[in-house]
Amino acid sequence: MSTQAPARARLESLRDQLDHHNYCYYVLDAPEIPDAEYDRLMRELLALEAEHPEWLSPDSPSQRVGGEPVSAFAEVEHRLPMLSLDNAFSNTELADFDRRARERLGVEGALDYAAEPKLDGLAVSLLYRAGRLARAATRGDGHTGEDITANVRTIRSVPLKLRGTDWPALLEVRGEIYMLRAGFEALNEAQRNAGLKPFVNPRNAAAGSLRQLDPGITATRPLEMCCYGVGISEGWSLPERHSELLEQLGIWGFRINRESRVVQGLEGCLAYYADLQARRDGLAYDIDGIVFKVDRLDQQGQLGFVSRAPRWAIAYKFPAQEEITRLLDVEFQVGRTGAVTPVARLEPVFVGGVTVSNATLHNADEIARLGVMIGDAVIVRRAGDVIPQVVSVVGERRPQDAVAVRFPETCPVCGSALERTEGEAAIRCSGGLVCAAQRKESIKHFASRRAMDIEGLGDKLVEQLVDAGLVSSIADLYQLSVDQLAGLERMADKSAQNVHAAIAASRDTSLPRFLFALGIREVGETTARALARHFGDLDPLMQASEVELLEVPDVGPIVARHILEFFANADNRAVISRLRAAGVHWPALAVEARHEPLKGETWVLTGNLESMTRDEAMQQLLALGAKVAGSVSARTTRVVAGPGAGSKLARAESLGIPVVDEAWLLTFLDENSAS
Ligand code: IVH
Repeated sequence: MSTQAPARARLESLRDQLDHHNYCYYVLDAPEIPDAEYDRLMRELLALEAEHPEWLSPDSPSQRVGGEPVSAFAEVEHRLPMLSLDNAFSNTELADFDRRARERLGVEGALDYAAEPKLDGLAVSLLYRAGRLARAATRGDGHTGEDITANVRTIRSVPLKLRGTDWPALLEVRGEIYMLRAGFEALNEAQRNAGLKPFVNPRNAAAGSLRQLDPGITATRPLEMCCYGVGISEGWSLPERHSELLEQLGIWGFRINRESRVVQGLEGCLAYYADLQARRDGLAYDIDGIVFKVDRLDQQGQLGFVSRAPRWAIAYKFPAQEEITRLLDVEFQVGRTGAVTPVARLEPVFVGGVTVSNATLHNADEIARLGVMIGDAVIVRRAGDVIPQVVSVVGERRPQDAVAVRFPETCPVCGSALERTEGEAAIRCSGGLVCAAQRKESIKHFASRRAMDIEGLGDKLVEQLVDAGLVSSIADLYQLSVDQLAGLERMADKSAQNVHAAIAASRDTSLPRFLFALGIREVGETTARALARHFGDLDPLMQASEVELLEVPDVGPIVARHILEFFANADNRAVISRLRAAGVHWPALAVEARHEPLKGETWVLTGNLESMTRDEAMQQLLALGAKVAGSVSARTTRVVAGPGAGSKLARAESLGIPVVDEAWLLTFLDENSAS
């Protein structure tokens, strides 16, 4: 007996340590030890449990991998029904809710509200007996749900055992199971790689994952649980406020939404709503509105319920980001680089706050992946400033006369052959500057604000100039006369003079702008700046070899190839000579040997910084030779995360990439900046 004691003590210690690190990692998002160390502890526990099966316990941290498959889920009665929420869709409706609540309570001043994001997932009930997870159930119809205990046990942010000691004898915690966007993307990539159908959105993915009869499958899905309330409970006295209740749940080891706040009155609610709506797309998860709850539990009791919803809470919904509409047609546009892009013409639909009638279909692969036909009912998504996307087809609503989408065989603008480069999704027109579409797009780009910034030379005018045969390359712009411009339809003399003057003024430019304006493939503003800084002038760049190009921060083999091809092309060289002959010029830049301690590193900035803007931080990192990327990949060196960091932080953590905070960055910049 006594020989077993050290092993037993070690087993308990391992379980406690693993519970603690699970909590740090999955609930607090703040791991204290590297993954490898966690894995080592887990292996040790598994070995001990294998040696002593009599010590196995269902709430051991080793028991998250999923139990035996079942043939169906058992029914569960909710002793306290799981209610739904009334919705508000406007400030007026929210004001009505607030007024009614104050009238019923006889309160004149502002009420305190607990404000929480409305997570877009599935409501669940978790029952704890004596601090141990005893049962998990779906909401179902609010009265009867399904027993999904085995599946929920696999979710790491659900405690199998409560932290601390003084928990109620019986505690039902309610909350939402959902999927982070990063987890959803990774899951869909895996689905596609396995030849399976991807999920439409994180909510569907979460629902599909919870509905698995085999918990072993659920265990592989990146599900999260966040708690927002308590159902039944026995053997404790509830706190006075909802906000305190959430705090207590946090102490017991549940994940509580970090954005939860107590706000005062309608005004506080509206400010909170506006703030979160503005940050909505930067969150790591989807939310479809804000839930406001009267914070004082005694006031909640006084207000009570109507039918299926409480009178003390309301969901103020954001404008929907997804809607169903019909695909009327698919048109094919030819871009600056010749890429032929299918564009969906849609029955206009109000989504994400604007009316959408076009959406990109990206390329032929995307059309095939969606399996979309003209006439189909499609789900369109528009989030923030993102270009509207066709997310999926509503299969059961396909009309009988739906027509397959046919990709053109030749360029729809100039009739040249289309070609597809190995390894690229884009299909391109081979016409180059013969193709009017490519000519128009390259001139539009040249004139645009961030390139040569020619005021008044907008898209419409460029199209007129090309269609009238007055301009066929960017160099022709500098040969235009005021009379030629004034001769165009709807062009007043004064405007013609202004455009002429703006073209003339653009001769005086900078090297980064000029390089960007040339429209070399994959050379955006940042790369143009890096090239200008590295070579100082155009001629050394035009003569640079591949090896020399690869020395430039931000230039990899693909970009280098595009630059080489561009300057090797005789037409392009002729255009550049004509531009220079027309007087386009820029000051040469000093090329200096730089102090670049971060050369070869790629950093990502995410979340908010307090002492500087993200752009300032980026400039300082660029000056030290780092690349600053917009997304996290396996090649990322370091991630600087401020408050509000979301999916990028989650991705960095899942890839094991070092994450630092602003204080760290400041010290680092202080120590490393060139004096
Ligand atoms: S409170 C009686 N809080 O919204 C109160 N619900 O439309 C019931 N939801 O079924 C729920 N986030 O699935 C509450 N912070 C939150 C929520 C939330 C998401 C969901 C939940 C509920 C539905 C009601």
